[in-house]
Amino acid sequence: MQQSDSQPRSVRDRYIDLLMSSLTRSLYLDEETHDVPLAEWEGLTSLDLDAEALKQALRSTSTRLTRRGGDPQRRQVGHDWPPTAETMVGIDRLADVRFCVESALADGVPGDLIETGVWRGGVTVLMKGIVEAWASDDQYGGTRRVWVADSFEGLPAPDATNYPADEGIDWSGVEPLKVDVDTVKANFAKFGLLDDRVEFLVGWFSETLAAAPIESLAVLRLDGDLYESTMDALVALEPKVADGGYVLVDDYGGWEPCRKAVDDYRAANNITAPIVEVDWTGIHWRTER
Ligand SMILES: C[S@@+](CC[C@H](N)C(=O)[O-])C[C@H]1O[C@@H](n2cnc3c(N)ncnc32)[C@H](O)[C@@H]1O
Repeated sequence: MQQSDSQPRSVRDRYIDLLMSSLTRSLYLDEETHDVPLAEWEGLTSLDLDAEALKQALRSTSTRLTRRGGDPQRRQVGHDWPPTAETMVGIDRLADVRFCVESALADGVPGDLIETGVWRGGVTVLMKGIVEAWASDDQYGGTRRVWVADSFEGLPAPDATNYPADEGIDWSGVEPLKVDVDTVKANFAKFGLLDDRVEFLVGWFSETLAAAPIESLAVLRLDGDLYESTMDALVALEPKVADGGYVLVDDYGGWEPCRKAVDDYRAANNITAPIVEVDWTGIHWRTER
């Protein structure tokens, strides 16, 4: 399913290209606006203005200071939390999701696809778009489900007693990470991709993943940041990844608790399949049973 650069791109490839650049907003970066804290606004020093009075005036009129335009480099490598895009995963790692899904489908690897830790849902929207786009050439086309697993209320507080690697990492109050399930469903619907083969697992991974009625997985993607969240997902789901299926980890290179969970799990289960580095943080490996 991969094409060389010299071949003309099919309508299907162009659709997936468009989906990726839309989900990341890389197509509309010039229209993006970013909040600028007054203290960081360089224009302020060149004006004869009372910063405190300006701050009050902005607040009292519900006005925000914004800067136009996103940074293409940061979006490429997934280094920012975009204001409106459906995913914070950069284009390089999305291209890896595409590669792994298309490769698993082309090789007839049986099973569903899942991401654990979806935020606004963009990666799972991409998975669903690829599954639908390739359905007519996929021997399991029309039966594969895409599972969307998240608390839909952000990260759990760290449980340092059971997971010492997470000690001191408390992101449970980080509001931008809390995206409710109806918003994620609406994001699927926006792209015409919400149907009864998209399944939502709402709740903490420790309570939802093991009990989920998933028989087999062609693609398992982990993006829960913490040691606990990564380990819970691996223990519940990695044994269900079929021979030739892919395990993708978003935070391996850039986030020590996640890397430790993956290394601990692979060592405890004698997984020696080579790790492929995708970018500064993402990895995948192909399952050998
Ligand atoms: C970095 S964000 C995921 C980014 C997303 N993959 C994307 O495409 O932009 C991490 C997500 O993991 C979820 N999460 C982390 N730990 C969790 C857990 N133990 N149970 C349920 N959800 C969890 C958070 O709610 C959050 O939505």
